[in-house]
Amino acid sequence: MTDVAFVLGTRPEIIKLAPVVQACQRSGIEFTIIHTGQHYSDTLDSVFFDQLELPAPDYNLRVGSSSHGEQTGEMLIAIERVLTEIDPDVVLVQGDTNSVLAGAIVASKARAELGHVEAGLRSSDRSMPEEINRIVADHVSDYLFAPTEQSESYLLDEGIPAHRITVTGNTVVDALVRNREIAHRKSTALADLGLVDTDFFLMTAHRQENVDDEKRFRDILAGVERTAKTHGVEVIYPVHPRARERIEAFGIDVPDPIRTIEPLGYLDFLRLSVAADLILTDSGGVQEEACILGVPCVTMRDNTERPETTDVGANQLSSSDPNRIVITATEMLLRDGEWENPFGDGDAAERILQALPLDAEVREVAR
Ligand code: UD1
Ligand code: UDP
Repeated sequence: MTDVAFVLGTRPEIIKLAPVVQACQRSGIEFTIIHTGQHYSDTLDSVFFDQLELPAPDYNLRVGSSSHGEQTGEMLIAIERVLTEIDPDVVLVQGDTNSVLAGAIVASKARAELGHVEAGLRSSDRSMPEEINRIVADHVSDYLFAPTEQSESYLLDEGIPAHRITVTGNTVVDALVRNREIAHRKSTALADLGLVDTDFFLMTAHRQENVDDEKRFRDILAGVERTAKTHGVEVIYPVHPRARERIEAFGIDVPDPIRTIEPLGYLDFLRLSVAADLILTDSGGVQEEACILGVPCVTMRDNTERPETTDVGANQLSSSDPNRIVITATEMLLRDGEWENPFGDGDAAERILQALPLDAEVREVAR
């Protein structure tokens, strides 16, 4: 019988659950990885298993891409079959994707206890699919691993009992601590892209509400173009497949100072993040990483579920308005990167294992 089953399906879940999987390996905790197959392109999936040295998933449910309802529905059916077969003590999900929603709903009705890693994030914007997913996951979970006291406070405000919540820090710090030096040694991305000793900005934009909306997407690209021209630098944009599809469907010509490339592996993205003068993004994980690495960040959204990053001065919201993107970027470039890291010390994975209802003996080894 498996002790812990991980249900994951997308790039950020693989990255942020890797430290917990590795803590299980160190502690001899038996585990099973159930991959929903929400992400399946090598650049969003297998590259992370390779670079983070994770064991291959035990199950791949190959759900693939479709509408929210169809994708989640197929996951529900397939996850239930696997959980019935393997009967884990604990199911862990991480974050706010449709894979998390499906894993949480199935596990909450199964015999297993359900743990939600990165619980209590709120954008207060219910038009975001991620906001719905994280609210549901939090409210059906038995163990809520809040990365910060701020996220804990959102959960308490929603009436979730305190005894279910543990403040652990974010496992993104564990991943960075482990991989920063490896990225520095192994990644050739800077040389490959001709960026050694060159000033550049790094950009990501993939979120549904930004790239599926033609005006917003064009505005974001125009704002980043103007920012790059104002500061005389090039912008490197590894393009997520959702955004790539929209660029083609809308017939967008991405302006010159923005160099589009394929999505990067984790080590290359980390290497570029550390070297960039500024990061412009709509990603959740990238906002956190920029903050932890001391790189100023502009978040091209109207809200953020990571207010810790703006509170410490590492990040500012610009919306998708081109003028505000330029102004915000120019302001952020004046920051010195010396803010505090609000996401913990890199021991989140151990804290998560210690809080779970595993055998006392197993928990002792995890310590
Ligand atoms: C999902 C998450 C989002 C997260 C992102 C991480 C939901 C609701 N959204 O968004 O919160 O930030 O993952 O990257 O769960 N595609 C490929 N190859 C793949 C996967 C997708 O080409 O391996 C393309 C397909 O055309 C697909 C589109 O990308 O239709 C969107 O994929 P999907 O998984 O639905 O959502 P993401 O935008 O990746
Ligand atoms: N990332 C990566 N390669 C890229 C872009 C991002 O490895 O080309 C990593 C990044 O380091 C971060 C994670 O992907 O850890 C963020 O995932 P994403 O932006 O897809 O999702 P979100 O965090 O917004 O849910």
